[in-house]
Amino acid sequence: MVRPRVLSGVQPTGSLHLGNWLGAIRNWVDLQGSHDTFFCVVDLHAITVPHDPARLAEDTLATAALYLACGIDPTRSTVFVQSQVSAHSELAWLLNCVTPLNWLERMIQFKEKALKQGDNVSVGLLDYPVLMAADILLYDAALVPVGEDQKQHLELARDIAQQRINARFAPRDASGEPISILRVPEPLILKQGARVMSLTDGSSKMSKSDPNEGSRINLLDPPELITKKIKRAKTDPVMGLEFGNPERPEADNLLGLYALLSGRSADQAAAECAQMGWGQFKPLLAEAAVEALRPLQQRYAELRADRPALEAVLQQGRERAAAVADATLARVKDALGFLPLPTDG
Ligand code: TRP
Repeated sequence: MVRPRVLSGVQPTGSLHLGNWLGAIRNWVDLQGSHDTFFCVVDLHAITVPHDPARLAEDTLATAALYLACGIDPTRSTVFVQSQVSAHSELAWLLNCVTPLNWLERMIQFKEKALKQGDNVSVGLLDYPVLMAADILLYDAALVPVGEDQKQHLELARDIAQQRINARFAPRDASGEPISILRVPEPLILKQGARVMSLTDGSSKMSKSDPNEGSRINLLDPPELITKKIKRAKTDPVMGLEFGNPERPEADNLLGLYALLSGRSADQAAAECAQMGWGQFKPLLAEAAVEALRPLQQRYAELRADRPALEAVLQQGRERAAAVADATLARVKDALGFLPLPTDG
C-alpha cells in the first residue's frame, strides 16, 4: 500500500518554541508511522524579511537538529534543507508567472508582515506563498499539516495547481482526458488542543516574532530560564485552573500546556488543578516543562556534537527530495513548453 505523502516545514529563524513542538512537530512525529513524510527547513522563506547572513547556516542546522531531537527519524522521513534543492526556486518562478498579483496582495499574513516592515517590503515577502506552493507541489504532497494561520496559503497552492497549471496546461491522453500535472493537496487539520498561546497574553499565539522573550519557552531554554518565564507568566486573580472560560485565556492555555507536558489527559489535569492557586500551580507547570524538554535537549546536544553525522542526514535527505522534486519540475517545464534538455546517450 502506498502511504499518502505529507510535506511540511518550519523557518530557521530564531529558535523553535513549545508552540512549534506541541502544535506541529509532535504531530509530524506521529505521522511517520502511517505516511510518507517529507520535512524541510525552509531557509529561502527566512530571507523574505531582513536576515543575518552570519546566522542563517547555523540556524538552519539548529532547526534540522531540533527536528531530529523531537523524534523525526531520518530513516523514516526525508529531512532536507529547502535551499539545497534548487527545484524550489525554479518552480516558484514558473508559478509566479501564472499567479495573479491580486491573489498575493490579499494574503492576510503578507498584509500583517508588510505593516511591520514599513518601507522595506521585499518582492520576496509578497511572493512567500508562491514559494510555499512550490514546496508543496514539487512533492505531489497529498496532505499538508497546517495550523489556522497557514490555511490561506494552502488554499492558494491548491488554486495555483488546479486553476493555473492543470486547467490551462494539462496535456491530453489518447482519449482526450487531461493528464494532471500537479497534485492538488489537501489540508491536514491537526487535532485540537495543540494551539499554544503566549505566556504574556493568553489570547495571542506563541510566536517567534514576539519581541518579548518572556512570551515563549524555547525548546533549548535551560531549566532556570523556563522556571523564570513561567513564574512571570500572566495570570488572573481567580483561584483554581480551568479550561474553556473565555474570561480566562491564560488559565486555559497554561492548564493545557500542563496536560500536554506532563502527559496527562485534559480531564486529569483539570481535576488535579481545579482548586489550585497560581502559586501552587506554576512550580508544577515549570517542573513538567523542564522534565518534558530534558530528553529533547540532551538529544539535541548529542546531535550538535557530531556535525558530520547531521550533515550526512541532510545530504541523504537532499538526494531523496531532489529525485522527486526534479521529476515534478521537469513535468511542469514540459507542459509549459520549454525546450527540453538533450537526452544523453
Ligand atoms: N509558511 C509556513 C509557516 O510559517 C512554513 C512553510 C513554508 C511551509 N513552506 C511550507 C509549511 C510548506 C508547510 C508546507 O508555518
